[in-house]
Amino acid sequence: MVMAGFDPGHVRRYFPALQAVSQRLVGRWQRAAEQCVAIDLQADLMRYTVDTIAGLAFGAQVNTLESDDDVIQQHLDKIFPALNKRILSPVPIWRFMRSAADRQLERSIAEVNSAVAGFIAQARRRMQADSLLREPPRNLLEVMIAAADEPGSGIDDSQVAGNVLTMLLAGEDTTANTLAWMIHLLWRNPRALTRASDEVRRVVGDVASPTLDQLEQLSYVEACAHETMRLKPVAPIILLETLHAMTIGDVQVPAGLMISNLIRRDSVSDKCFARAAAFEPERWLAEGEPGAQVPAAKHISMPFGAGPRMCPGRYLALLEMKMAMAAMLGNFDIESVDTPDGQEAHERLAFTMTPVGLRMRLRRRA
Ligand code: HEM
Repeated sequence: MVMAGFDPGHVRRYFPALQAVSQRLVGRWQRAAEQCVAIDLQADLMRYTVDTIAGLAFGAQVNTLESDDDVIQQHLDKIFPALNKRILSPVPIWRFMRSAADRQLERSIAEVNSAVAGFIAQARRRMQADSLLREPPRNLLEVMIAAADEPGSGIDDSQVAGNVLTMLLAGEDTTANTLAWMIHLLWRNPRALTRASDEVRRVVGDVASPTLDQLEQLSYVEACAHETMRLKPVAPIILLETLHAMTIGDVQVPAGLMISNLIRRDSVSDKCFARAAAFEPERWLAEGEPGAQVPAAKHISMPFGAGPRMCPGRYLALLEMKMAMAAMLGNFDIESVDTPDGQEAHERLAFTMTPVGLRMRLRRRA
């Protein structure tokens, strides 16, 4: 169901709504540029990804980009870091003593649960109003509800709600943080930034609403995304469980053991990539172009995982990233992307790997 909900055909049909979300992002950044205000990069990008996922997967009109009130994204932001902290905590202190942060987390979970229930209720109302929508359902949530309503389907409402929450969490932080890392790395690599800007300005005629065809031509911007994910994979640890006993390297492993895979080891090793520490998007360009290393690179850098549980949102994520970059580089020049200490951004692993404290200033292009 999830794979079907995010396949390229479905994402293409959703494209006009993605254009609308990116226009709202441009509007938000235009206001910041006019008022000479620094942009809290991750927070804004998370608004962009929440609005996108809610529209695509749930058919819901969520507009966090044009609202500064208590929006769902601010509550979602609390969940991953708290989950990470609790997973790594040797003692489950929160079961005996609730701190202010624990109480805030409970409030955030209640808000997110109520938003999830709202998405499901809205979808049910739409489906009841037009029973034809069941054939075929228009988005992932409607597919799940239609399946849950089939007698003996084995899917109940709590599973539907659980999947809605998974989509929100899996689709928000990952894409937003990858975009934030990409903007940071481009700012620190002016040659690559110039080449990406030139590509956007050459390919995209009307920067107010890039078309799908134009985004597909942004091969250098896409190479920047792959290079960013090689250096800064936002999910740097993937947990896999052995189905049967096996030997991995020279270690015997029993069945049913959880294995933490550190996926960045080889992708930043000079044994696997020439000048591995450098940001060189060219290596991801089509074979034959100068610097291209693609066939080898794809087997070493696997930011979306691999195998049957590989990320189903990868096509959407790349499209969202190209759309945001086209919107940004087409409409603005970057004045600065600052970190709190002026150095390369620190990595904070809070379930996903986040760059700490990026502030961006933009200038509207003439
Ligand atoms: C740059 C953006 C993204 C990255 C780097 C990323 C990365 C990953 C990784 C590493 C996994 C685990 C794969 C494994 O276990 O082998 C995963 C799973 C998943 N991702 Fe993404 N993801 C991104 C964007 C998205 C988006 C936009 C969605 C859409 C909602 C999404 C939905 C999911 C879901 C539902 C799973 C669980 C799949 C399963 O367990 O079968 N992801 N992702």
